[in-house]
Amino acid sequence: MKKFFFTALVTSLLFSGSSLADDETPLAKKMDEASTSLKLLRRAGDDYAKAIALVQEAQGHLLECFQYVPVKVEKMADGKEKQEAIANYKKMLAQSYQALCDLEIAYLSEDLDKIDDAMDVVKESRGDGHDVFVEEN
Ligand code: HEM
Repeated sequence: MKKFFFTALVTSLLFSGSSLADDETPLAKKMDEASTSLKLLRRAGDDYAKAIALVQEAQGHLLECFQYVPVKVEKMADGKEKQEAIANYKKMLAQSYQALCDLEIAYLSEDLDKIDDAMDVVKESRGDGHDVFVEEN
């Protein structure tokens, strides 16, 4: 009997895990990848070449986000308002991409203050985008 419950528990955990992963939109996956690259910056420390490669990696992932539309916007009725929301989404994504380019430039300067400031702008742009476009649960 114990074995049965254990098997049932493991099975339900496995299924809930996989259904969670399936729930992730292609946009969320790309965002996650960008986020992972940026998190690895902490480990790069003062290895600037490594840090620059990670920032470029994050840029690549963010660039891929342009092809998708946030769930919140997808749910809007077709029309001008939705078209405007899509244009605004791309605009904010572009601002975030620009912030990542400034972060790359800051790493190239090897100036820690500039790197910190540029990272603050990246985080701010992420927050601004999420405030407007991430669906509340
Ligand atoms: C460097 C900048 C950014 C990073 C690191 C980032 C990271 C993330 C992460 C980790 C998630 C959660 C993924 C998950 O559910 O597991 C996410 C979701 C999301 N982000 Fe970003 N984000 C950034 C910028 C932006 C910007 C600028 C926008 C909007 C213009 C945006 C819009 C969204 C949306 C809409 C979702 C939910 C996915 C969906 O609706 O399909 N993000 N992001």
